Formats: sequence, structure tokens, C-alpha cells
Amino acid sequence: YTRAEVAQHRTPSDRVWVTYGTEVFDVTDFVELHPGGPDKILLAAGGALEPFWALYAVHSQAHVLELLRDYKVGELSPEDTAPPAGDTKDPFSGDPPRHPALRVNSLKPFNAEPPPELLTQSFLTPNELFFTRNHLPVPAVEPGSYRLRVEGPGGRALSLSLAELRQRFPKHEVTATLQCAGNRRSEMSRVRPVKGLAWDIGAISTARWGGARLRDVLLAAGFGDETVGDGEWHVCFEGLDADASGTPYGASIPLKRAVSAEAEVLLAYEMNGQELPRDHGFPVRVLVPGVVGARSVKWLRSVVVSPSESPSHWQQNDYKGFCPSVDWDSVDFRSAPAIQELPVQSAITEPRPGAAVPAGELTVKGYAWSGGGREVVRVSGGRGWVGVKRRKGHPVSSSRRSHPLFPLRVAVPAGARLDIVCKAVDSSYNVQPDTVAPIWNLRGVLSNAWHRVPVAVTR
Ligand code: MTE
Repeated sequence: YTRAEVAQHRTPSDRVWVTYGTEVFDVTDFVELHPGGPDKILLAAGGALEPFWALYAVHSQAHVLELLRDYKVGELSPEDTAPPAGDTKDPFSGDPPRHPALRVNSLKPFNAEPPPELLTQSFLTPNELFFTRNHLPVPAVEPGSYRLRVEGPGGRALSLSLAELRQRFPKHEVTATLQCAGNRRSEMSRVRPVKGLAWDIGAISTARWGGARLRDVLLAAGFGDETVGDGEWHVCFEGLDADASGTPYGASIPLKRAVSAEAEVLLAYEMNGQELPRDHGFPVRVLVPGVVGARSVKWLRSVVVSPSESPSHWQQNDYKGFCPSVDWDSVDFRSAPAIQELPVQSAITEPRPGAAVPAGELTVKGYAWSGGGREVVRVSGGRGWVGVKRRKGHPVSSSRRSHPLFPLRVAVPAGARLDIVCKAVDSSYNVQPDTVAPIWNLRGVLSNAWHRVPVAVTR
């Protein structure tokens, strides 16, 4: 086929054709099954997949090509096999440099986690080692011309420069842990394959964030507690990062949380006393303590108060939990609420799985945390469930929003092969489930079963 012939197949009624390399595919029957949504795959209709796959690097996996092969209908004519113009520029070429110690789960877009041992080296994760979860290329933002739009029905629309955001609103600081819904997904895929990046236990980090309170900015724009009065309102955020169709990353939280003084939601411009790094949202990001990382929108361009949740793909058709019987054929994203507060979590950072450890008293290190500002009241593990309370006198032990690190001491007998286990309990007595299978879900989110680390004890 010529490219011109392929270009005539752009709608389900004309059939949807795409090319990859020199091959032509009729993906009409896959459009509704596309995990990223039908609208996204239709962007490529009648043309080459390469520019889109460059943007959504999740496609660079062998099983995606295998799946595509089922839809092959032919080859491009020899005179038309040169790559189409315009698909050669790498949209990620402007991404910032990164620390080599990070464990990279996907390079484009960039997704990486700190090595587990480094996570528990210090309570605050250094900016360079803080996990990074990007869906799209990092936007290059010129701070001098940056403006944040704040608006909604019945309010006073604001357009704030960075300087105005800093000067007009008091700076507020919060020490908070951010965790991605996909943290520990790799343990879920060991039960049954799931779709998503194979995060180990490091899609979680803690920082001291500084910025304006979202509450103060919303009050200045005419929204307050009284707006909360009638029905469920939401605050929708959009980032400056956008996909090939110009659609930005977006997410929302309930207005009730956004205006709550206690919830301490920030429009953050500082991270651990430095200006926000580019990977973490420079110049301004939302920071929602206790809530899944997906709602803490980076490179913030707008804040819109609305009677509905964000229409974004990431609010509507992703970051939701389902029961283990739901598969990609039966899933109905409208049937589940968007994840907001995360469940209780803990994991062991040392020793590492498969380690040989000396007999006697073993020190086990790890982290524990719970969503919604619920404090972790106990972490226990090992034989006989040795209990550990939060460390008294910890410099930030008064913060309910950040993960305490724990040392646990367990006696391990010489020559044994055993699993070291930890589980946490939060202040509502929520406890981690003992195994992964009953909480398995097709997107591999909310993976918080007891963490098990197999070790061999030397003689
Ligand atoms: N905001 C924008 N604009 N674009 C994104 O891709 N990723 C979200 C959230 N905010 C994202 C975003 C997700 S899923 C997570 S877990 C956190 O950012 C990660 O924040 P971090 O990269 O600073 O750790």
C-alpha cells in the first residue's frame, strides 16, 4: 500500500489503518480495546505509529509488537518505505539530566526509583534521588513568563506570576511522603501479569515542601468553605506537559480537601529547601499530602473549581482499583472511584531479597506510611511479630504525613532459609493484607500486601 492509501483509513467506518516501520495494520477491532483509550489510538489513524510511540514509551515492549502483528494487512510500497517526515525529532530530547544511581523503569517518559537502601538512609529523600513518575516529556518552563490560572464558576479568575504566588501568599511548609499508586507493582505481576511500569518498592519518597497553601489561593479567588456546602465540588489541575494531541496531564481532588486548612494542600515551589527540580514540576506543582501521587500535578498551569472531577484520562480511566476478577475485556472505569487517599503501606529496604545474612540478631530496615494523614502506630514482622513503634525523639516524629523509617530486630537461626516479613498498622487500625492475590488488579495499583524478603542465614 502507499501512504496515501493508508491515509484514507482514519475512522472505524472506513477501517482504522496504521503503519509501523514498513508494515501496514488494520487496528479497527483493537480501537475499543486500547488501554490508553480509543481517542488516543485514533490520533495515529491513517499514519505512522512511531511519533506516538516515541511519546508513550510503554509501547516499546515485545508483547505490544506481537499484539500488533495480529492486525497486519500488508506492507508499504517500496517507494513509500522511508519514514514519514516529522517523526524523527525526539520529544524527550529536552528532558533534564538525572542521577545515575536511580533505577530506571522507563527512560522515555522518565520513570525511576531510588535504590531501596538509599530510601532509608535519611528521612528526607534527597531531590536527586526522589522517585520520578513522568507520563510525558518534561516541559521547559520560562519562570519569567510563567502564569498560573485559577478560576471557576462564581469566582474571581486569577492569573498569577511566580513572583505573585510567592509574595501574595504566605509560604507554608509541609513534610510529606509522595507515593505512586503503582509502588510495588512488580510483586503484583508475579501473581499474574498486569499492565504498567514494574516498580519495585521505591515509588515512594519524602520531602519538605514549601509553597502557597492551595486554600489561600482559592480563598483569594472567591472559593471557600461555603462552596463546599452544596454537593461535591472538585478542584481540577492541569500540567504544562501535553501529549501529541495537545492534551495536558490532569487530575483533581475534592474541593473539600483543597480548602481544608488541616489537609495542607500546597502549590509547592520548593522541595527540601531548593527550587523545585524540573523532573518534579518546576516551577510550581500541587502537593496533596496523604493522597496518591497522581493528584499532585506537576508543572501546574491551571486550577479550576468545577462541579465535576477532572475529565483527564488519568482521573477517569486510570488510577482506579478493581477486584481480581475484572480483566481488560470486562473493565468499566466508570464503575470505580478515582484513587485519592492511599492505604497503609510498609516495606523492607534491607536486607535485600536473596541476601545471605549472619545468624543471630538481624537488623531489618524499612519504611511505613499510611494515606489520609493516618499515623502508623505499629510496624511488626518476623517470627512472633516483634513490634516496633514510631521512634520517639525522631526529629520529625510530629508529622503525620511522612513515612517513619523503622529498624526491626529479629533473631535468625543459623542455616535457615526464611522470609523476613513486615506489616504496618495505622491509627484507624487498618492493616496490610497478608498476600497479594486477593488485592491483585489489572493495573497493578495499591499493592500493599505484607512485604516478604527471602534470605539465607549463614552458619
Ligand atoms: N503531573 C504531571 N503534570 N505529569 C505527570 O506525568 N505524574 C503524576 C504526578 N503528577 C505527573 C504529574 C504521578 S502518577 C505521580 S506518582 C507524581 O506526579 C510523581 O511525582 P514525582 O515525579 O515528583 O515523584
